[in-house]
Amino acid sequence: MSVNAYSEGKQKIEWVISHMPILNNIDNKLKEERSFKNVKIGMALHLEAKTAYLSIALKNGGADIRITSCNPLSSDDSVIKSLHEDYGVSVYGKKGESDTEYWEYLHNILDFSPDIIIDDGADLISLLHREYTHLIHDTKGANEETTTGIVRLKAMEKKRELKIPVIDVNDASMKHLFDNRYGTGQSTFDGIFSATNLTIAGSTFVVAGYGWCGRGIAMRAKGLGAEVVVTEIDPVKAIEARMDGFSVMPMKKAVGVADFIVTATGCKDVVSKKDLLNCKNGAVLANAGHFNKEVSLKDLDAVSKSHRTVRRYVDEYVLENGKKLYLLGEGRLINLVAGQGHPAEIMDMSFSLQALSAKYLLNEKLKSKIYPVPAKIDRYVAMLKLKSMGIKIDHLTKEQKLYLSEWDEGT
Ligand code: ADE
Repeated sequence: MSVNAYSEGKQKIEWVISHMPILNNIDNKLKEERSFKNVKIGMALHLEAKTAYLSIALKNGGADIRITSCNPLSSDDSVIKSLHEDYGVSVYGKKGESDTEYWEYLHNILDFSPDIIIDDGADLISLLHREYTHLIHDTKGANEETTTGIVRLKAMEKKRELKIPVIDVNDASMKHLFDNRYGTGQSTFDGIFSATNLTIAGSTFVVAGYGWCGRGIAMRAKGLGAEVVVTEIDPVKAIEARMDGFSVMPMKKAVGVADFIVTATGCKDVVSKKDLLNCKNGAVLANAGHFNKEVSLKDLDAVSKSHRTVRRYVDEYVLENGKKLYLLGEGRLINLVAGQGHPAEIMDMSFSLQALSAKYLLNEKLKSKIYPVPAKIDRYVAMLKLKSMGIKIDHLTKEQKLYLSEWDEGT
């Protein structure tokens, strides 16, 4: 038997490559066609193994890549090392980088004048519009990976401040229906388990926000045996949560019963001063949204007498009323801080959409606005996913197609 001579980072990257068959297929095509020859791609995505593979596939397609993370705490240092040493990708970042370093790395990406930007959360696109306006004219466009990024970009578009074409990868069916729901549903618990080693069964588990991420978390919490409570601001989503079998109540009431509170709203101050003071003693707080603003850290500091780290990624806060609260991962997205991010087969779909959308950006003449991922790309990824799962589906007959195209054959 041969001795394993691979570095930890390379092992992780090779593992995901062998579990991302859709991107394998696209990788081969990009390589064959040299689709990104002489194209500079600047990327700011959570820098872990699946993301590393996306950058490798784009590089295999001929692109010149610079990549950094989109979050100071989500990087995997072993992957960064391997990406640089084994795959020759220009990579910036480290787990636990300071805010100054975070922005310095984003500047490094734009200093390279990328033709295409691949962003997660829109910090890179926002920096382009604030400090690199001289590059805007030559930027072909950007892809945005996540809900929070799309919310920010829509605000830019509405104010007529968006100056490049953007592909909204987040809202492709093959992205949000799987990545946001099943990806977040699974990886949030990966993070909570490894940070706390506590039991979900028998607990009261509060999920703030019933978007696709919140749905996934609530579904998995229920499967693990928790009593699940959902908080919402949208009446329709609140009804959906109730009819999916969850209790629905305002946060101020939910904090009184919660053993765990996980935020997934994309908004700020979802758990704020009064809520914190009214939490049950010993409650665990975590965030699955993009930014660390959902649990108000300012308020948590303000109502606390002291805090200390009691486990890796678990900070114990002693409140002025004597209660103890446990904040996971400094309030940053727990699935990547303490977990390994979404599973490979999920990111396979999201990052296949990213690669194909980047190619689309390159080959089309687009206006400065937000575009959906073309339906053809979404369906293509769906077809490859079905194939990878060994699933065959039915097809319409000619008569059925005709039937569906007519309106007068009621009975
Ligand atoms: N891995 C890479 N990007 C990710 C994301 N946006 N969410 C979860 N895991 C990821």
